[in-house]
Amino acid sequence: AWTPSNIIAESIAQVRTQIGDDQVLLGLSGGVDSSVVAALLHKAIGAQLTCVFVDNGLLRLDEGDQVMRTFARHMGVRVIRADAERRFLDRLRGVQDPEQKRKVIGNTFIDVFDEEASRLSNIQWLAQGTIYPDVIESAGAKTGKAKVIKSHHNVGGLPEEMNLKLLEPLRELFKDEVRRIGIELGLPSEMVQRHPFPGPGLGVRILGEVDKASADTLRLADHIFIEELRRAGLYDQVSQAFAVFLPVRSVGVVGDDRQYEPVVALRAVETVDFMTARWAHLPYDFLDTVCRRIVNEVKGVSRVVYDITGKPPGTIEWE
Ligand code: XMP
Repeated sequence: AWTPSNIIAESIAQVRTQIGDDQVLLGLSGGVDSSVVAALLHKAIGAQLTCVFVDNGLLRLDEGDQVMRTFARHMGVRVIRADAERRFLDRLRGVQDPEQKRKVIGNTFIDVFDEEASRLSNIQWLAQGTIYPDVIESAGAKTGKAKVIKSHHNVGGLPEEMNLKLLEPLRELFKDEVRRIGIELGLPSEMVQRHPFPGPGLGVRILGEVDKASADTLRLADHIFIEELRRAGLYDQVSQAFAVFLPVRSVGVVGDDRQYEPVVALRAVETVDFMTARWAHLPYDFLDTVCRRIVNEVKGVSRVVYDITGKPPGTIEWE
Protein backbone atom coordinates (compact mmCIF):
# COMPACT_ATOMS: atom_id res chain seq x y z
CA ALA A 1 0.00 0.00 0.00
CA TRP A 2 1.08 3.59 -0.63
CA THR A 3 1.91 5.14 2.71
CA PRO A 4 4.45 7.87 3.32
CA SER A 5 6.50 5.60 5.56
CA ASN A 6 6.60 2.80 2.97
CA ILE A 7 7.73 5.17 0.26
CA ILE A 8 10.36 6.67 2.54
CA ALA A 9 11.71 3.25 3.53
CA GLU A 10 11.82 2.16 -0.10
CA SER A 11 13.60 5.27 -1.34
CA ILE A 12 16.08 5.18 1.50
CA ALA A 13 17.02 1.63 0.63
CA GLN A 14 17.26 2.51 -3.05
CA VAL A 15 19.36 5.63 -2.45
CA ARG A 16 21.77 3.74 -0.20
CA THR A 17 22.31 1.04 -2.82
CA GLN A 18 22.71 3.58 -5.60
CA ILE A 19 25.10 5.89 -3.73
CA GLY A 20 27.21 3.52 -1.70
CA ASP A 21 30.03 5.57 -0.21
CA ASP A 22 29.73 8.40 -2.72
CA GLN A 23 29.12 12.05 -1.89
CA VAL A 24 25.97 13.90 -2.97
CA LEU A 25 25.41 17.58 -3.66
CA LEU A 26 21.98 19.20 -3.51
CA GLY A 27 20.89 22.69 -4.46
CA LEU A 28 18.51 23.58 -1.65
CA SER A 29 16.08 26.35 -2.53
CA GLY A 30 13.81 26.24 0.48
CA GLY A 31 10.91 25.19 -1.73
CA VAL A 32 8.89 22.08 -0.97
CA ASP A 33 10.60 19.70 -3.39
CA SER A 34 14.25 20.40 -2.63
CA SER A 35 13.44 20.57 1.09
CA VAL A 36 11.89 17.13 1.03
CA VAL A 37 14.85 15.76 -0.94
CA ALA A 38 17.21 17.25 1.68
CA ALA A 39 15.30 15.65 4.54
CA LEU A 40 15.05 12.32 2.75
CA LEU A 41 18.73 12.17 1.76
CA HIS A 42 19.83 13.32 5.18
CA LYS A 43 17.95 10.38 6.62
CA ALA A 44 19.33 8.00 4.00
CA ILE A 45 22.98 9.01 3.79
CA GLY A 46 23.57 11.59 6.56
CA ALA A 47 26.96 13.23 6.22
CA GLN A 48 27.40 12.09 2.60
CA LEU A 49 25.00 14.90 1.69
CA THR A 50 26.08 18.51 1.26
CA CYS A 51 23.52 21.17 0.37
CA VAL A 52 24.23 24.48 -1.27
CA PHE A 53 21.71 27.22 -0.65
CA VAL A 54 22.10 30.23 -2.94
CA ASP A 55 20.68 33.45 -1.53
CA ASN A 56 20.07 35.47 -4.68
CA GLY A 57 18.65 38.51 -2.86
CA LEU A 58 15.30 37.82 -4.51
CA LEU A 59 13.85 35.63 -1.79
CA ARG A 60 10.94 36.31 0.51
CA LEU A 61 11.40 38.04 3.86
CA ASP A 62 13.69 36.02 6.18
CA GLU A 63 13.68 33.05 3.84
CA GLY A 64 17.42 32.46 3.94
CA ASP A 65 17.55 32.46 7.72
CA GLN A 66 14.56 30.14 7.86
CA VAL A 67 16.20 27.62 5.57
CA MET A 68 19.37 27.68 7.66
CA ARG A 69 17.40 27.36 10.89
CA THR A 70 15.36 24.40 9.70
CA PHE A 71 18.06 22.39 7.98
CA ALA A 72 21.41 23.38 9.42
CA ARG A 73 20.46 24.17 12.98
CA HIS A 74 17.50 21.87 13.71
CA MET A 75 18.21 18.88 11.52
CA GLY A 76 21.99 18.95 11.40
CA VAL A 77 22.14 18.90 7.60
CA ARG A 78 25.36 20.25 6.13
CA VAL A 79 24.28 23.41 4.31
CA ILE A 80 26.57 25.92 2.67
CA ARG A 81 24.93 29.30 2.26
CA ALA A 82 26.18 31.40 -0.62
CA ASP A 83 25.22 35.03 -0.14
CA ALA A 84 25.13 36.25 -3.71
CA GLU A 85 22.67 39.15 -3.59
CA ARG A 86 25.20 41.66 -4.90
CA ARG A 87 26.18 39.43 -7.76
CA PHE A 88 22.61 38.81 -8.91
CA LEU A 89 21.63 42.46 -8.62
CA ASP A 90 24.76 43.59 -10.47
CA ARG A 91 24.05 41.26 -13.34
CA LEU A 92 20.40 42.29 -13.45
CA ARG A 93 21.17 45.98 -13.77
CA GLY A 94 19.61 47.35 -16.93
CA VAL A 95 17.81 44.11 -17.75
CA GLN A 96 14.10 44.70 -18.39
CA ASP A 97 12.76 41.79 -20.39
CA PRO A 98 11.15 38.99 -18.32
CA GLU A 99 12.72 36.08 -20.23
CA GLN A 100 16.08 37.82 -20.24
CA LYS A 101 15.81 38.30 -16.48
CA ARG A 102 15.05 34.59 -16.09
CA LYS A 103 18.13 33.77 -18.15
CA VAL A 104 20.39 36.07 -16.17
CA ILE A 105 19.10 34.73 -12.86
CA GLY A 106 19.36 31.12 -14.04
CA ASN A 107 22.91 31.59 -15.36
CA THR A 108 24.05 33.44 -12.27
CA PHE A 109 22.61 30.68 -10.14
CA ILE A 110 24.59 28.11 -12.11
CA ASP A 111 27.79 30.14 -11.77
CA VAL A 112 27.43 30.58 -8.02
CA PHE A 113 26.41 26.99 -7.52
CA ASP A 114 29.33 25.78 -9.66
CA GLU A 115 31.79 27.82 -7.65
CA GLU A 116 30.54 26.44 -4.37
CA ALA A 117 30.54 22.92 -5.79
CA SER A 118 34.08 23.22 -7.11
CA ARG A 119 35.28 23.93 -3.59
CA LEU A 120 33.96 20.57 -2.47
CA SER A 121 36.11 17.65 -3.35
CA ASN A 122 34.93 14.25 -4.29
CA ILE A 123 31.28 14.83 -5.22
CA GLN A 124 29.87 12.20 -7.61
CA TRP A 125 26.16 12.90 -7.51
CA LEU A 126 23.88 15.84 -7.96
CA ALA A 127 20.47 15.47 -6.30
CA GLN A 128 17.46 17.34 -7.61
CA GLY A 129 13.91 17.82 -6.42
CA THR A 130 12.41 16.79 -9.75
CA ILE A 131 8.86 15.48 -9.28
CA TYR A 132 6.65 13.59 -11.70
CA PRO A 133 4.92 16.64 -13.24
CA ASP A 134 8.38 18.16 -13.99
CA VAL A 135 9.35 14.98 -15.79
CA ILE A 136 6.23 15.13 -17.93
CA GLU A 137 6.64 18.83 -18.61
CA SER A 138 10.27 18.62 -19.69
CA ALA A 139 9.59 15.53 -21.82
CA GLY A 140 6.85 17.49 -23.56
CA ALA A 141 9.15 20.45 -24.04
CA LYS A 142 11.78 18.33 -25.75
CA THR A 143 9.34 16.90 -28.28
CA GLY A 144 7.71 20.28 -28.66
CA LYS A 145 4.38 18.95 -27.45
CA ALA A 146 3.96 21.18 -24.44
CA LYS A 147 3.59 24.88 -24.83
CA VAL A 148 6.52 26.30 -22.99
CA ILE A 149 5.42 29.79 -22.14
CA LYS A 150 8.22 30.48 -19.71
CA SER A 151 11.60 28.90 -19.29
CA HIS A 152 11.46 27.29 -15.86
CA HIS A 153 14.99 26.61 -14.81
CA ASN A 154 14.55 23.83 -12.30
CA VAL A 155 14.97 20.83 -14.58
CA GLY A 156 18.16 19.86 -16.31
CA GLY A 157 21.25 21.83 -17.23
CA LEU A 158 23.66 21.34 -14.40
CA PRO A 159 24.74 17.71 -14.26
CA GLU A 160 26.18 17.36 -17.77
CA GLU A 161 28.39 20.40 -17.34
CA MET A 162 29.54 19.23 -13.96
CA ASN A 163 30.04 15.62 -14.85
CA LEU A 164 27.84 14.41 -12.04
CA LYS A 165 25.40 11.58 -11.93
CA LEU A 166 21.83 12.64 -11.33
CA LEU A 167 19.87 11.55 -8.26
CA GLU A 168 16.14 12.30 -8.34
CA PRO A 169 14.41 10.44 -5.52
CA LEU A 170 11.03 12.20 -6.01
CA ARG A 171 10.85 11.55 -9.75
CA GLU A 172 7.81 9.32 -9.53
CA LEU A 173 5.82 11.33 -7.02
CA PHE A 174 3.05 13.88 -7.26
CA LYS A 175 3.12 17.07 -5.22
CA ASP A 176 0.66 15.93 -2.56
CA GLU A 177 2.68 12.75 -2.09
CA VAL A 178 5.86 14.80 -1.72
CA ARG A 179 4.12 16.89 0.94
CA ARG A 180 3.01 13.84 2.90
CA ILE A 181 6.52 12.47 2.82
CA GLY A 182 7.89 15.80 4.01
CA ILE A 183 5.56 15.81 7.01
CA GLU A 184 6.47 12.20 7.81
CA LEU A 185 10.15 13.17 7.67
CA GLY A 186 9.50 15.84 10.29
CA LEU A 187 9.59 19.00 8.20
CA PRO A 188 7.51 21.86 9.60
CA SER A 189 4.07 21.92 7.99
CA GLU A 190 4.39 25.64 7.07
CA MET A 191 7.35 24.66 4.93
CA VAL A 192 5.69 21.67 3.34
CA GLN A 193 2.36 23.41 2.67
CA ARG A 194 3.98 26.54 1.33
CA HIS A 195 2.70 28.08 -1.89
CA PRO A 196 4.99 27.55 -4.88
CA PHE A 197 7.61 30.22 -5.45
CA PRO A 198 9.26 30.67 -8.85
CA GLY A 199 12.98 29.99 -9.23
CA PRO A 200 13.67 33.58 -10.35
CA GLY A 201 11.87 34.72 -7.21
CA LEU A 202 11.07 38.39 -6.78
CA GLY A 203 13.02 38.96 -9.99
CA VAL A 204 9.85 38.30 -11.97
CA ARG A 205 7.59 40.07 -9.47
CA ILE A 206 9.38 43.38 -9.80
CA LEU A 207 8.25 44.46 -13.24
CA GLY A 208 11.05 45.69 -15.45
CA GLU A 209 14.44 46.44 -13.97
CA VAL A 210 15.21 44.93 -10.58
CA ASP A 211 17.01 46.77 -7.82
CA LYS A 212 17.53 46.32 -4.12
CA ALA A 213 15.18 49.08 -3.01
CA SER A 214 12.28 47.57 -4.97
CA ALA A 215 13.10 44.11 -3.69
CA ASP A 216 13.11 45.33 -0.09
CA THR A 217 9.81 47.15 -0.58
CA LEU A 218 8.21 44.16 -2.23
CA ARG A 219 9.47 41.75 0.42
CA LEU A 220 7.75 43.74 3.14
CA ALA A 221 4.47 44.14 1.26
CA ASP A 222 4.44 40.46 0.35
CA HIS A 223 5.15 39.47 3.94
CA ILE A 224 2.20 41.51 5.21
CA PHE A 225 -0.13 39.94 2.65
CA ILE A 226 0.97 36.40 3.53
CA GLU A 227 0.90 37.06 7.26
CA GLU A 228 -2.68 38.37 7.03
CA LEU A 229 -3.73 35.42 4.87
CA ARG A 230 -2.44 33.05 7.53
CA ARG A 231 -4.03 35.04 10.32
CA ALA A 232 -7.41 34.98 8.57
CA GLY A 233 -7.15 31.25 7.88
CA LEU A 234 -7.15 31.92 4.14
CA TYR A 235 -3.61 30.87 3.27
CA ASP A 236 -4.40 27.20 2.68
CA GLN A 237 -7.56 28.06 0.77
CA VAL A 238 -5.66 29.78 -2.01
CA SER A 239 -3.13 27.99 -4.20
CA GLN A 240 -0.70 30.84 -4.55
CA ALA A 241 -0.64 34.41 -3.29
CA PHE A 242 1.93 37.16 -3.54
CA ALA A 243 2.57 40.83 -4.08
CA VAL A 244 3.93 42.40 -7.26
CA PHE A 245 5.95 45.60 -7.50
CA LEU A 246 4.74 47.97 -10.21
CA PRO A 247 7.29 50.63 -11.13
CA VAL A 248 4.68 53.17 -12.14
CA ARG A 249 4.08 56.00 -9.76
CA SER A 250 0.74 57.10 -8.47
CA VAL A 251 -0.24 60.09 -6.39
CA GLY A 252 -1.41 59.58 -2.84
CA VAL A 253 -1.94 61.52 0.36
CA VAL A 254 -0.51 60.10 3.55
CA GLY A 255 -1.08 62.31 6.57
CA ASP A 256 -0.48 65.81 5.27
CA ASP A 257 1.99 64.70 2.66
CA ARG A 258 1.39 64.30 -1.00
CA GLN A 259 3.19 61.21 -2.24
CA TYR A 260 4.10 60.06 -5.68
CA GLU A 261 5.15 56.46 -5.30
CA PRO A 262 5.15 53.00 -6.89
CA VAL A 263 2.11 50.73 -6.74
CA VAL A 264 1.82 47.27 -5.22
CA ALA A 265 -0.52 44.70 -6.77
CA LEU A 266 -1.82 41.70 -4.85
CA ARG A 267 -2.39 38.41 -6.65
CA ALA A 268 -4.13 35.35 -5.20
CA VAL A 269 -5.35 32.40 -7.24
CA GLU A 270 -7.14 29.11 -6.82
CA THR A 271 -6.04 26.31 -9.09
CA VAL A 272 -5.42 22.58 -9.18
CA ASP A 273 -2.78 22.32 -11.88
CA PHE A 274 -1.53 25.92 -12.28
CA MET A 275 -2.32 25.66 -16.00
CA THR A 276 -5.61 27.45 -15.49
CA ALA A 277 -6.58 29.45 -12.44
CA ARG A 278 -9.40 31.52 -10.98
CA TRP A 279 -8.61 34.70 -9.07
CA ALA A 280 -9.40 34.18 -5.41
CA HIS A 281 -12.53 36.01 -4.31
CA LEU A 282 -10.98 37.23 -1.07
CA PRO A 283 -13.31 39.10 1.28
CA TYR A 284 -13.34 42.88 0.83
CA ASP A 285 -12.73 43.44 4.54
CA PHE A 286 -9.69 41.25 4.36
CA LEU A 287 -8.31 43.13 1.35
CA ASP A 288 -9.00 46.37 3.17
CA THR A 289 -6.92 45.24 6.16
CA VAL A 290 -4.02 44.20 3.94
CA CYS A 291 -4.11 47.45 1.99
CA ARG A 292 -4.12 49.60 5.12
CA ARG A 293 -1.23 47.71 6.62
CA ILE A 294 0.87 47.92 3.47
CA VAL A 295 0.28 51.64 3.02
CA ASN A 296 0.98 52.34 6.70
CA GLU A 297 3.95 50.06 7.17
CA VAL A 298 5.78 49.99 3.88
CA LYS A 299 7.55 53.21 3.12
CA GLY A 300 7.23 54.25 -0.50
CA VAL A 301 3.93 52.58 -1.29
CA SER A 302 0.74 54.61 -1.30
CA ARG A 303 -1.55 52.55 -3.48
CA VAL A 304 -2.51 48.88 -3.54
CA VAL A 305 -4.54 47.14 -6.24
CA TYR A 306 -5.98 43.63 -6.49
CA ASP A 307 -5.54 41.55 -9.64
CA ILE A 308 -8.84 40.07 -10.86
CA THR A 309 -7.55 38.39 -14.00
CA GLY A 310 -8.03 34.68 -14.47
CA LYS A 311 -5.61 32.34 -16.21
CA PRO A 312 -6.14 32.38 -19.10
CA PRO A 313 -5.81 35.08 -20.20
CA GLY A 314 -3.44 36.25 -17.48
CA THR A 315 -0.56 34.09 -16.33
CA ILE A 316 -0.28 33.67 -12.58
CA GLU A 317 2.94 35.64 -12.39
CA TRP A 318 2.98 39.09 -13.97
CA GLU A 319 6.10 38.39 -15.98
P1 XMP B 1 2.43 31.25 -14.77
O1 XMP B 1 2.88 32.64 -14.40
O2 XMP B 1 3.14 30.71 -15.98
O3 XMP B 1 2.89 30.35 -13.55
O4 XMP B 1 0.93 31.12 -14.86
C1 XMP B 1 2.51 29.01 -13.33
C2 XMP B 1 3.28 28.53 -12.12
O5 XMP B 1 4.67 28.47 -12.42
C3 XMP B 1 5.41 29.32 -11.57
N1 XMP B 1 6.47 29.94 -12.36
C4 XMP B 1 7.77 29.61 -12.32
N2 XMP B 1 8.42 28.70 -11.58
N3 XMP B 1 10.45 29.33 -12.61
C5 XMP B 1 9.78 28.57 -11.73
O6 XMP B 1 10.40 27.74 -11.07
C6 XMP B 1 9.87 30.28 -13.40
O7 XMP B 1 10.51 30.95 -14.17
C7 XMP B 1 8.44 30.41 -13.23
N4 XMP B 1 7.53 31.20 -13.82
C8 XMP B 1 6.32 30.91 -13.28
C9 XMP B 1 4.42 30.31 -11.01
O8 XMP B 1 4.84 30.85 -9.78
C10 XMP B 1 3.17 29.47 -10.92
O9 XMP B 1 3.16 28.69 -9.74
